[in-house]
Amino acid sequence: MVDVIPAPASVAGNPSGSVRLDAGTALQTLPGTEGTARWLRAAVGAATGLPLPEDSARPNRIVLGIDPGLPPEGYRLVTDARPLRVEGGGPAGVFWGAQTLRQLLGADAFRRAPLRRDRVWDVPAVTVEDSPRFRWRGLLLDVARHFMPKEGVLRYLDLMAAHKLNVFHFHLTDDQGWRIEIKRYPRLTETASWRARSKFGHRASPLWEEKPHGGYYTQDDIREIVAYAAERHIAVVPEIDVPGHSQAAIAAYPELGNTDVIDTTALTVMDNWGISSNVLAPTDNTLRFYEGVLEEVLELFPAGAAQFSPFVHIGGDECRKEQWTGSVTAKNRIADLGLADEDALQSWFIGHFDAWLSARGRRLIGWDEILEGGLAEGAAVSSWRGFGGGIAAARAGHDVVMCPEQYVYLDHRQAPGEDEPVPIGFVRTLEDVYRFEPVPDGLTEAEARHVLGTQANVWTEVMEDTARVDYQTFPRLAAFAEVAWSSLPTPGERDFTGFERRMAAHYARLDALGVAYRPPAGPRPWQKRPGVLGRPIEGAPPNR
Ligand code: ACM
Repeated sequence: MVDVIPAPASVAGNPSGSVRLDAGTALQTLPGTEGTARWLRAAVGAATGLPLPEDSARPNRIVLGIDPGLPPEGYRLVTDARPLRVEGGGPAGVFWGAQTLRQLLGADAFRRAPLRRDRVWDVPAVTVEDSPRFRWRGLLLDVARHFMPKEGVLRYLDLMAAHKLNVFHFHLTDDQGWRIEIKRYPRLTETASWRARSKFGHRASPLWEEKPHGGYYTQDDIREIVAYAAERHIAVVPEIDVPGHSQAAIAAYPELGNTDVIDTTALTVMDNWGISSNVLAPTDNTLRFYEGVLEEVLELFPAGAAQFSPFVHIGGDECRKEQWTGSVTAKNRIADLGLADEDALQSWFIGHFDAWLSARGRRLIGWDEILEGGLAEGAAVSSWRGFGGGIAAARAGHDVVMCPEQYVYLDHRQAPGEDEPVPIGFVRTLEDVYRFEPVPDGLTEAEARHVLGTQANVWTEVMEDTARVDYQTFPRLAAFAEVAWSSLPTPGERDFTGFERRMAAHYARLDALGVAYRPPAGPRPWQKRPGVLGRPIEGAPPNR
């Protein structure tokens, strides 16, 4: 049985036949595959105890090679002939092929050490041919609302790699915290990286966690994260959210706020959930400040690290306009620029950074609100408020990542009923995610080509630790990975029963990896949060 997730394009051969890997199994590392060889020895070697020495002569070996005839991220995995082969169209393809090989080895290949030394490792004798449907297969992790220490981020990169996901959208700044060290602005970490207390539950909850919460990544932490991701063919796309979701930065540097409307020196890092009305002032000082931030960001997230590394996400979502409406400075700016209104001012703000990034060989991506008041030239869009923004952007010739909140916001509760911890939003089950179709009806082929791919988003207001993040993210990320990678039939025709059957093997892998997923029968006692209020919403708009 070959229970690979995400499902490969084709599996041939006789899966009841098998081939044995043992201490005598060698690796032959051909040019372009060195990273995968390192990963196999480090990760699979640790789990299996197999030394995998380099040897290009012995029949009992695994050849890692490039076959330029395959798609760049495609691979061919051959285990029904000696030597075994993992061939990719490029280095990334070889890596994804090695991920499939690990799955064929069984769940214990996902541990960090062998359970027994005398264990033999049999893999099904098959030929797998595979390549991804979408180029952008993303996961957003919100480390601003609740900080995830570096070790947890590196673990998530490994979990992404195991699911053949390749874009880590790193939501680094928000009203409730700033998580990246910027050397020229030390108060962003001294002041903006922590809050005195946190709301426990969503806004309606009366409960507070009366202890400081915070943390940040040093610049060396960021470099390590980016390099660790690149070794796994994952691009890290940093998000520095402007001009809304910026209260933490304003608390550290009050001159960034609308000082003619409120006393910004009295602001602190936001300790409740929701969207702050304290947004950036549209001043030259603010633009220069964020150019300074982005100069350091560009150095930390080099364009060449991985596919999609040229992208920088500048947010642009949910910018409340009431302070701009009341601000003489903002009104003067609108008049000076000859703009229509505050929406156009936001568009000007985003357009400034689009031009600034383009001039440096980078690409801007922002939430679909950046369409309002005119989309910045060259910008790409993360379509989160349903499909509409993505459709409009694709029709206008802009690239799009589909991440509609109705389907792939993994903070949303995954079952009805009282047991789901701190329930948020619509019910979005494993099956709902499995039946998510990223390319909406009605796009022409040319427009559909602007859909770079899709992304699942994990917002952490009510996920106070890594176990809560695991619970919300898994098992749904496995279904999402199959949507992003595999060429599935239309939603109604998808074989969810078959997926669930393969999930039996996948749960064992997640157990071996130590992932605190939601079990199919519901939360374990310690995964519940009885009495902690969420923000449930009944019903949901239909798919597409
Ligand atoms: C978002 O969920 N505000 C992008």
